[in-house]
Amino acid sequence: MEKKVGLIEADEDQGKCANDRPSSRLPGYFKRSPKERVALLVEQGRITAQDAELLQSHADSFPMSVADSMIENVIGTYGLPLALGLNFVINGRDYVVPMVVEEPSIVAAVSHTARIVRDAGGFEVETDPSLMIGQVQVVGCADPEAAAERLRQSAPKLIEAANALQPNLVARGGGARSIEVRVLGEGSSRYTTMVVLHLVIDTCDAMGANLINTMAEGIAPLVEEISGGAVHLRILSNLADRRMVRAQCRIPHRLLAWRGFEGHRVAQGVAMASEFAELDPYRAATHNKGVMNGIDAVALATGNDWRAIEAGAHAYCAMGQGYRPMATWHNEGDALVGRLELPLQVGTVGGPIRLHPVLKVAYKLLDIESASELGAVMGAVGLAQNLAALKALATEGIQRGHMSLHARSVAATAGARGDEIERVAQQLISEGEIKVHRARQILEGS
Ligand code: MEV
Repeated sequence: MEKKVGLIEADEDQGKCANDRPSSRLPGYFKRSPKERVALLVEQGRITAQDAELLQSHADSFPMSVADSMIENVIGTYGLPLALGLNFVINGRDYVVPMVVEEPSIVAAVSHTARIVRDAGGFEVETDPSLMIGQVQVVGCADPEAAAERLRQSAPKLIEAANALQPNLVARGGGARSIEVRVLGEGSSRYTTMVVLHLVIDTCDAMGANLINTMAEGIAPLVEEISGGAVHLRILSNLADRRMVRAQCRIPHRLLAWRGFEGHRVAQGVAMASEFAELDPYRAATHNKGVMNGIDAVALATGNDWRAIEAGAHAYCAMGQGYRPMATWHNEGDALVGRLELPLQVGTVGGPIRLHPVLKVAYKLLDIESASELGAVMGAVGLAQNLAALKALATEGIQRGHMSLHARSVAATAGARGDEIERVAQQLISEGEIKVHRARQILEGS
């Protein structure tokens, strides 16, 4: 029997959390109004009353002056819904996850599967140090292999020169760590022979694009002196394969029973869907789009460069033979085991979008201590999002869930507010005609 606690309904799990943080299990949260949802966050001590006001006020949440300082030719701002992915337990800690996204079912679906994984003990996620690569392309070397070898031998000098360019990063415990050098295009009639130097840099809590580019550009004269060639491009690589996130979960089959489908059938269906993605790039692309639905939404809510994350994630999947799925599922005895492995170049400091006032509130809600913790959250969200899609696809299909959420947004577009939204949506669904003009008629009582 559910009872009320403050603004939310409680169940037997309510209030239990994996640590001293407030529980991310908030039953019935979706049924509340946005104002009540924000009030609950204040009640739980996650954000202040001032933060709540900021979230509610469109004009303050993204002032024109801030927008105008970010890019050229600004003529307005463009809002998107900010929502919370609930129920996440990651490495024994409870998280509510801010997500910015327009697609109707994403937040509901990820919260649903995060709840299942929560009951199974949560996500285990490992993250690598924040190592990124700055690339320096050198052309015109008389003997490319010998130039490459001289660069390798000069690693300490190059690292020292790079670190001298970023004393603050070094003071924070980061900086250039190593040098790798390859020769590309040699012996080809089509390509220029080039020496490519990788400067591997620990960017700490920054995504690092600016500081990597500064270092890559700054060491160019020394690279030319050592190699005897001419430096051409100097830029970070978005294939951040030294900054990997590995997430996994293990779900007893009984927790997967759903809408008349037995748990072991759901588990078999999810594993078979995973095999499809492992065998077929056409399916892997859509499977991975589902993973990125969640990761991009967190990237947006936390002011991260989702294009960089996308580029790195897909490039990683295409390394080796063929294009692979970002997350896979298989059964071990009576448990479904999911694994995700992705490079995630995320930062919690720096970047132009830091000026966005709502970001401060998003970070308060997320309550993380480092960029690698943010990477861990994103990894878990990606895995949960993928499970949500595969579970729906392997059972009733995704349209039913999509259509009921779509009906709510159609109702809102037609002018429904508060409780009306659900009433109109339900009628649209029962009539099988999810159209704005019909929603208007329902609102007008016809
Ligand atoms: C839709 O945004 C994402 C899905 O297509 C992902 C998938 O097919 O795995 C449902």
